[in-house]
Formats: sequence, C-alpha cells, structure tokens
Amino acid sequence: MSLMFIDSVIFACIVLLILQCRRKTGSRRLPPGPKPLPVIGNLHLLGDKPHVSLTKLSKAYGPLMSLKLGQVTAIVLSSSEMAKEILQTHDRVFSSRAVPDAVAALNLNVHEMTWLEVSDKWRNLRKIGNKYIVSTAKLEAGQDLRRKKVQDLLQEVGKCCQDGKAVDIAQASFRTTLNLLSNTFFSMDLADTSSENAREFRDVVKAIMDVVGKPNLSDHFPVLRFLDPQGIRRQTGVLCKKLLDIFDRISDERLRSRRKTDQSSTKSDVLDTLLDIAEDKNVDFDLDAIRYLFLELFTAGNDTTSSTLEWAMTELLRNPKAMSRAREELRENIGVGNTVEESDTSRLPYLHAIIKETFRLHPPAPFLIPRKSGSDVEINGFVIPKGATILINAWAIGRDPKIWENPEEFMPERFLDSDTDFRGSNFRLIPFGGGRRICPGLPLATRMLHLMLGSLIHSFEWEVEEKEYLGVEEDFGITLHKARALRALPVRFTS
Ligand code: HEM
Repeated sequence: MSLMFIDSVIFACIVLLILQCRRKTGSRRLPPGPKPLPVIGNLHLLGDKPHVSLTKLSKAYGPLMSLKLGQVTAIVLSSSEMAKEILQTHDRVFSSRAVPDAVAALNLNVHEMTWLEVSDKWRNLRKIGNKYIVSTAKLEAGQDLRRKKVQDLLQEVGKCCQDGKAVDIAQASFRTTLNLLSNTFFSMDLADTSSENAREFRDVVKAIMDVVGKPNLSDHFPVLRFLDPQGIRRQTGVLCKKLLDIFDRISDERLRSRRKTDQSSTKSDVLDTLLDIAEDKNVDFDLDAIRYLFLELFTAGNDTTSSTLEWAMTELLRNPKAMSRAREELRENIGVGNTVEESDTSRLPYLHAIIKETFRLHPPAPFLIPRKSGSDVEINGFVIPKGATILINAWAIGRDPKIWENPEEFMPERFLDSDTDFRGSNFRLIPFGGGRRICPGLPLATRMLHLMLGSLIHSFEWEVEEKEYLGVEEDFGITLHKARALRALPVRFTS
C-alpha cells in the first residue's frame, strides 16, 4: 500500500514536471518566421528595401513574426493590433531602444533622449522639450520667425517661376526645414546658401543621415562591435563633432551677448530659455546637455519633415484632382493674395487629410525607431524574448488592405469623415510612433508641414517637365526618401 502510494506520488511528480516543461517550452515559442541560415540567419531576406521584404514575409508568417538577423532576434509587427500591443498594452516593457552601434560615438547613446532608457534623465529631457521647445506657447512665439522663412522659400520659388526653372523640392524643403528649426531654436538661419557655415551644416546633417542609415554589420553581430568593421561609428563621431562645434560657437556667442546686454534685450528663444535652465544649479541640465539636445533635434527633425513635404508634393502632382481640391480650399479660406499662416491651418481639413494620407503611404521612419524588449512577454501565445529588437512596420500597416480601402491609392478624402489621427491613440496611422516614446517633435513637425505645403500650393501652380520625377520608387535609409528627387516647375503665381 505504501509502495503504491510512493509510486503514485512519483508518477504525479513526473507528470507535473512534464506538463510544466511543456508549458515552459510552449510559452517560450517564438512567433513564426522563415528558417534562419547558419551564421547570417535571415539577413539575406532583407534586400535593399527591408520594409517591402518584411511586408511580403508577413503575408506568409503573419503580423507577429520572428527573424534572426545575424546574432540578433528581431520581432516584426505588421498590423495595427500588434502595434497596439507594443505601443499601448505593453508600452512599459517595450519602452527602451535597440541602440545602434553608430550612436556609441561621442557617447550619443548616453546623452540623447532617443537612446536613453526610460529614466530620470530621459524624463527630464522630455519634460524640457515639451515645456520649453514644443509647448503651444513656445510654438506660438516662434510663428513670426517661421513665417519669414517660408516667405524666403516663396521668393526663391518665385524667382524660379520667373526664370522658367524647376525647383528641386527635396533640396528646397531640406533648406527651409533647417531654417525653420534653427530659427525656432536660436533665431538664426543655418541654411543660408551664401554662408560657408550654413553650407557646411547642411552637408554634415545630410552626411550623418547617410552614414547612420547604412546597414551596419556591428548591429547584427555585436561581437564585431569592437572592430567597427565599416567605420560607421568612427564616421558618425567625426560628423557629429562638427555639428557640436557649430552649436558650441552659437552658444558661446549667445553667452557673450547675454553678458554684455541686459536680460530684457535677449531673444527669449529656445536657446535663451535653455541657457536660463542650465544656469539653475538645481536642475540636471548643463551646456553639454544643450549641445547634445540640439544635435538630436536637428538630426531627428530635419530629414523626416523635409522628406514628407517632397512626398506630399509628389502625390499632389500625381493626383491633379486632389491638388485642385486643396487649392480650392486654400482660395476659399485664405483668399487670393493672402499668405498662409500657421493659425489658418485648422480651417483647412483637406490640407490636413493630405498630410495624413502622405504619412499613411510614406511614413518617414518605416520601422519607427526600433525598440527593445525589456523582458519576456507573451503575445498571442508567442513569446517575445527579453532583448529582442522590435520592428513595428508602420509602412505595412499603412498599406494593410484589411484597414484601408484601395490602400495603394492616394485618397485624402478617406480621412475627411474619420477620426483617425496620428497622435498616438489610433494604431492604424503611426508615423510618429506611440506610447511614452512618441515623437516629441510632432507639434512642431505638423505646423511646419502644413505651413510649407499650404504656402507652396496656394502661391503657385505646379507642373513637372518629365513624368519620371513623379515615380514613387523609394530609397531605404534612416528616412524613407524618394529615389528620384522631385523637380517641379512653378508655372504661375496664384497669390
Ligand atoms: C515628419 C516628421 C517626423 C516624424 C515622422 C518623426 C517620427 C518619429 C518616430 C517614429 C519616433 C519614434 C517614436 C516611438 O518610438 O514610438 C520619433 C522620435 C523622436 N523624434 Fe521625431 N519625427 C518627426 C519630426 C521630429 C521633429 C521635428 C523633432 C524635433 C525637433 C523630432 C524629435 C524626436 C526625438 C527627440 C525623438 C526621440 C524620443 C524618445 O525616444 O523619447 N522629431 N520621431
């Protein structure tokens, strides 16, 4: 009897152990994905347009998919439901970043909010950004400076119009965005073509985008990091140092003029506000933090905004009906001969719909900025393992036929009677990400975009010399650019 009892207990223990192991191995199941090859894993499947390749793969493996990219486990999410799991349901666990090796240069990873873990330092930087850079009051205060910069753009385009010359929209919008940002931050032009300093600045920002956007072996094989085999970290360091030097010169000059003049005659722009904060010994924010903050704001905000403008203009030129409707709305609400103001744009729902539709089809950061899993998390019965890189495919979500009717078509009308917005609460449209790490530059970016696009199409009629300029071929990089730059002809002044 007692032997039988012992046998039963041992049997029960074994069954329990098996069940537990099963549950463990079961719950440890990674999401489905293509079989990895030795060493490279699935790297060969990425191609030169990873957002397109991964969208195709997700059709076979589903909206929650795992890949092995060299040594790194990556989880790819391609539906709005899955994006919500990451950006809302499990926002806390997925709130840190997969930090690329390039940003170990100059310790960018420990200075820039983009790469910091959610921490007191990160919170402090976000708070400073939200309160002193992109708060409504601050943005309202910078309106006049931005208006002047858009007038400069219109003048430049007007000259091309008179001379019958085409405008390289990407270049013009890159320059204007740079000036809009530099005027918002420190009341001066950084993209004045006549200044050597400004030309250098523009070239360096572009070069940083190119270098950081290159696929880096060190990111897929962390064991190689110490070698920096493609020199990406080194080049990033050299380039960022150049920008930091420019910011140092600007801050030093401002400090000198602050010492000379009385406080009441200071510019009260973002730089002045940040210098005031840096003087407060009770706040963990100093001159070093200011230069890194500017570096990050320019690199995060310039290319994304200017590339969106180029896509919007391209889509409008490809879709003359949408262009006419937008111009009609501007004529009715702004009036011929008047200039578009930031405050006007709330009366322009079709213009808003155009920007949303542009973000849907052409999110500047197709995988957002990759996150990292902070612990094992179970989603839909699969395990996202701790440390995995999280790629949210915003490009695939924007073209998901389950969400969007005729997803490949540019139809701003779809947003007119819809409450879908890109401010992080609707996971069908997430060009700025979501959750606690949502892009803090969103209010500034949308103001700049509505103002630039509204002004360009209100003031001129546009055409293209060659149809090729209207191609929607993409060039994958840190920002999703148009492969063939748009050269558009301003053919007539209309206001
Ligand atoms: C069309 C324009 C822009 C787009 C589409 C865009 C997109 C994004 C995305 C997708 C993220 C990651 C969000 C996430 O992880 O959930 C991000 C983060 C960030 N963006 Fe933007 N951005 C734009 C403009 C700007 C501007 C103008 C600025 C500043 C002037 C800016 C500053 C930042 C910063 C500092 C972060 C990092 C935030 C953090 O990690 O806490 N962005 N942006």
